[in-house]
Amino acid sequence: QTGMFTYDPGFMSTASCQSTITYIDGDKGELLYRGYPIEQLATNCDFLETCYLLLNGELPNATEKEKFSSLVTKHTMVNEQMQFFLRGFRRDAHPMAIMTGLVGALSAFYHDSTDINNPEHREISAIRLIAKMPTLVAMAYKYTIGQPYMYPKNELSYAGNFLHMMFGVPCEDYKVSPVLERALDRIFILHADHEQNASTSTVRLCGSSGTNPFAAIAAGVACLWGPAHGGANEAALNMLYDIQKEGGVEKIGEFIKKVKDKNSNVKLMGFGHRVYKNYDPRAKLMQETCNEVLTELGLEKDPLFKLAKELEKIALEDEYFVSRKLYPNVDFYSGIVQRAIGIPVNLFTGIFALARTVGWIAQLNEMIGDPEYKIGRPRQLFTGSAPRDVKPIAQR
Ligand code: SDX
Repeated sequence: QTGMFTYDPGFMSTASCQSTITYIDGDKGELLYRGYPIEQLATNCDFLETCYLLLNGELPNATEKEKFSSLVTKHTMVNEQMQFFLRGFRRDAHPMAIMTGLVGALSAFYHDSTDINNPEHREISAIRLIAKMPTLVAMAYKYTIGQPYMYPKNELSYAGNFLHMMFGVPCEDYKVSPVLERALDRIFILHADHEQNASTSTVRLCGSSGTNPFAAIAAGVACLWGPAHGGANEAALNMLYDIQKEGGVEKIGEFIKKVKDKNSNVKLMGFGHRVYKNYDPRAKLMQETCNEVLTELGLEKDPLFKLAKELEKIALEDEYFVSRKLYPNVDFYSGIVQRAIGIPVNLFTGIFALARTVGWIAQLNEMIGDPEYKIGRPRQLFTGSAPRDVKPIAQR
């Protein structure tokens, strides 16, 4: 019995840590940040309020929100030298390859916030990372399409600024669409934290060595890139494109057959989860956001959205998926929303990393802030060779 929740001893023996930040009930399909249901946060708060909540444990009042937002706004620019770091990449580099480099490189510029054991350094590096991730993701995108970087604009909202840096150009004014701004802000909230997932566990283990916060977050970016984790939104959209190319809705049956064939190694991307054995609450909210954005943009007949809903419907009636408790996860619809916003497929995971940065920081700071914490050192079950003597090479 810990606080409101009781766990079976088996669960506690496999738990990698104790945390007060995010609670998931995989069987019920529930997700709460600091006790607030994700559904309420996604509809009543914006991303910066959610960041404040994850970092401080409480939602901000108006004054606290104003102070936190202006602090983040003041740190959105990056050191001009970062442009030269980008120039070393090929133009066709995957944005996540660039992001893995850029985030780690921040530790070469912000020496007054690299000591992870210093609470002030932790505080300022948190603000810098939350503030600069949108700028870095937009720079990575602009670099790969050969367009000039757009500097952040302090009068814009967090999501609005990101849209401006992504799609604005120096030769004309960029008008932020409130529809896209709201959709993007909600996508950020839905991806902000998720308990001890692979990338968060990576950040905790990396940070436990006392390395600087930027390097620890860069390790999270690298882990998130994998298609079984944050890379699934890119893979899910590419999967929908492939089915579309094969003939669309009529070809869903054939695709599902391939997924069921053990030798095909084909997965239904955006489906299944290590923890959720019920509908991922974020997937429901993401589908609603999809509906709203596509309707407001006059794209409600978007064939890909129709295909995704049909694929979900068929899968949820199919014994293979039902018996394995496979439901849509956060990545199933997020690609369709991001595509409608105009974000290129290979940048979807960059958006995920941008949003998850606050969760990684909150989890890292929770660990480092515990005076009892020690460097992580997972053990193994050794199943290799028994002790033996080396033979001279002539006898091997
Ligand atoms: C994220 O951990 C987090 O919290 C992550 C995340 C976060 O916010 O940080 O939620 C973000 O990573 C979401 C997950 C995104 N990944 C994908 O959508 C990729 C597709 N999904 C799978 O690769 C898979 O579902 C995993 C990796 C997510 C989970 O894999 P597991 O642990 O093998 O799932 P399982 O134990 O529930 O699998 C049970 C069975 C197995 O088949 P059998 O051996 O029993 O015959 O279901 C099969 C699996 O092979 N299966 C799938 C499947 N996912 C599991 N079969 C087809 N399609 C799938 N997507």
